[in-house]
Amino acid sequence: MATNTEPELSRIGISLPKNLLDKFDEIISMRGYSSRSEGIRDAIRNYITHYQWMSDVKGERQGVITMVYDHNQRGLLQVLTDIQHDYMHVISASLHSHITHNKCLEVILLRGEGSDLKTIAERLMAQRGVESVKLTTIPLRD
Ligand code: NI
Repeated sequence: MATNTEPELSRIGISLPKNLLDKFDEIISMRGYSSRSEGIRDAIRNYITHYQWMSDVKGERQGVITMVYDHNQRGLLQVLTDIQHDYMHVISASLHSHITHNKCLEVILLRGEGSDLKTIAERLMAQRGVESVKLTTIPLRD
Protein backbone atom coordinates (compact mmCIF):
# COMPACT_ATOMS: atom_id res chain seq x y z
CA MET A 1 0.00 0.00 0.00
CA ALA A 2 1.40 3.41 -0.94
CA THR A 3 1.92 5.98 1.80
CA ASN A 4 0.15 9.20 1.02
CA THR A 5 1.73 12.41 2.33
CA GLU A 6 -0.57 14.72 0.34
CA PRO A 7 -3.12 16.58 2.49
CA GLU A 8 -6.64 15.35 2.01
CA LEU A 9 -8.50 17.50 -0.53
CA SER A 10 -12.08 18.65 -0.16
CA ARG A 11 -14.12 19.72 -3.15
CA ILE A 12 -16.39 22.77 -2.92
CA GLY A 13 -18.75 24.50 -5.32
CA ILE A 14 -19.12 28.27 -5.19
CA SER A 15 -21.32 30.80 -6.96
CA LEU A 16 -19.72 34.05 -8.06
CA PRO A 17 -20.83 37.07 -10.06
CA LYS A 18 -19.48 36.63 -13.61
CA ASN A 19 -17.48 39.87 -13.60
CA LEU A 20 -15.73 38.84 -10.37
CA LEU A 21 -14.76 35.46 -11.85
CA ASP A 22 -13.61 37.12 -15.11
CA LYS A 23 -11.33 39.46 -13.16
CA PHE A 24 -10.01 36.56 -11.10
CA ASP A 25 -9.29 34.47 -14.23
CA GLU A 26 -7.52 37.43 -15.83
CA ILE A 27 -5.25 37.84 -12.79
CA ILE A 28 -4.42 34.16 -12.38
CA SER A 29 -3.61 33.90 -16.07
CA MET A 30 -1.34 36.99 -15.83
CA ARG A 31 0.36 35.53 -12.78
CA GLY A 32 0.84 32.17 -14.45
CA TYR A 33 -1.21 29.89 -12.21
CA SER A 34 -1.63 26.40 -13.62
CA SER A 35 -5.29 26.21 -12.67
CA ARG A 36 -8.17 28.15 -11.19
CA SER A 37 -8.07 25.82 -8.17
CA GLU A 38 -4.47 26.79 -7.46
CA GLY A 39 -5.40 30.49 -7.64
CA ILE A 40 -8.35 30.00 -5.30
CA ARG A 41 -6.21 28.04 -2.79
CA ASP A 42 -3.70 30.88 -2.80
CA ALA A 43 -6.45 33.50 -2.38
CA ILE A 44 -7.88 31.59 0.59
CA ARG A 45 -4.42 31.31 2.19
CA ASN A 46 -3.97 35.07 1.77
CA TYR A 47 -7.39 35.70 3.29
CA ILE A 48 -6.50 33.57 6.32
CA THR A 49 -3.12 35.27 6.75
CA HIS A 50 -4.77 38.67 6.47
CA TYR A 51 -7.45 37.78 9.01
CA GLN A 52 -4.91 36.36 11.46
CA TRP A 53 -2.79 39.48 11.07
CA MET A 54 -5.84 41.66 11.75
CA SER A 55 -6.61 39.59 14.85
CA ASP A 56 -3.24 40.64 16.28
CA VAL A 57 -4.22 44.32 16.23
CA LYS A 58 -4.27 45.14 19.95
CA GLY A 59 -3.44 48.05 22.24
CA GLU A 60 -3.46 51.77 21.51
CA ARG A 61 -2.93 52.40 17.81
CA GLN A 62 -3.10 54.93 15.04
CA GLY A 63 -4.64 53.53 11.87
CA VAL A 64 -5.90 54.16 8.37
CA ILE A 65 -8.81 52.44 6.68
CA THR A 66 -8.94 52.61 2.89
CA MET A 67 -12.34 51.65 1.52
CA VAL A 68 -13.77 51.42 -2.00
CA TYR A 69 -17.53 51.20 -2.46
CA ASP A 70 -20.38 51.61 -4.90
CA HIS A 71 -22.37 54.67 -3.84
CA ASN A 72 -25.37 53.51 -5.90
CA GLN A 73 -25.90 50.53 -3.60
CA ARG A 74 -29.24 51.23 -1.97
CA GLY A 75 -28.94 52.36 1.66
CA LEU A 76 -25.17 51.91 1.75
CA LEU A 77 -24.21 55.56 2.34
CA GLN A 78 -26.51 55.73 5.36
CA VAL A 79 -25.10 52.51 6.85
CA LEU A 80 -21.49 53.62 6.32
CA THR A 81 -22.25 56.95 7.99
CA ASP A 82 -24.02 55.24 10.92
CA ILE A 83 -21.07 52.90 11.50
CA GLN A 84 -18.65 55.83 11.51
CA HIS A 85 -20.81 57.76 13.97
CA ASP A 86 -20.94 54.69 16.26
CA TYR A 87 -17.15 55.01 16.51
CA MET A 88 -16.74 58.79 16.43
CA HIS A 89 -14.54 58.56 19.58
CA VAL A 90 -12.04 56.55 17.51
CA ILE A 91 -12.35 58.25 14.09
CA SER A 92 -10.29 61.43 13.75
CA ALA A 93 -11.14 62.33 10.16
CA SER A 94 -12.20 60.95 6.81
CA LEU A 95 -11.48 61.89 3.23
CA HIS A 96 -13.80 61.11 0.34
CA SER A 97 -12.74 60.95 -3.28
CA HIS A 98 -14.98 60.12 -6.28
CA ILE A 99 -13.13 57.55 -8.39
CA THR A 100 -15.68 57.02 -11.16
CA HIS A 101 -19.35 57.85 -11.68
CA ASN A 102 -20.29 54.98 -9.31
CA LYS A 103 -17.24 54.27 -7.20
CA CYS A 104 -16.02 56.14 -4.17
CA LEU A 105 -12.77 55.95 -2.27
CA GLU A 106 -12.86 56.81 1.41
CA VAL A 107 -9.83 57.11 3.66
CA ILE A 108 -10.58 57.07 7.39
CA LEU A 109 -8.03 58.13 9.98
CA LEU A 110 -8.36 56.43 13.37
CA ARG A 111 -6.76 56.45 16.77
CA GLY A 112 -7.75 54.12 19.56
CA GLU A 113 -7.87 50.57 20.84
CA GLY A 114 -6.72 48.15 18.14
CA SER A 115 -9.70 45.85 18.61
CA ASP A 116 -12.06 48.80 17.92
CA LEU A 117 -10.14 49.66 14.75
CA LYS A 118 -10.47 46.06 13.63
CA THR A 119 -14.19 45.94 14.44
CA ILE A 120 -14.85 49.08 12.38
CA ALA A 121 -12.95 47.61 9.40
CA GLU A 122 -14.88 44.34 9.68
CA ARG A 123 -18.26 46.06 9.92
CA LEU A 124 -17.51 48.20 6.86
CA MET A 125 -16.22 45.17 4.97
CA ALA A 126 -19.40 43.19 5.65
CA GLN A 127 -21.69 45.67 3.85
CA ARG A 128 -23.06 44.84 0.43
CA GLY A 129 -21.65 47.29 -2.13
CA VAL A 130 -18.34 47.68 -0.28
CA GLU A 131 -15.69 46.35 -2.66
CA SER A 132 -12.62 46.47 -0.47
CA VAL A 133 -11.50 47.59 2.96
CA LYS A 134 -7.88 47.71 4.05
CA LEU A 135 -6.75 48.49 7.57
CA THR A 136 -3.19 49.57 8.30
CA THR A 137 -2.15 50.35 11.87
CA ILE A 138 0.91 51.40 13.81
CA PRO A 139 1.31 51.00 17.58
CA LEU A 140 1.59 54.20 19.63
CA ARG A 141 4.96 53.60 21.22
CA ASP A 142 8.11 55.72 21.39
NI1 NI B 1 -18.06 59.65 -4.11
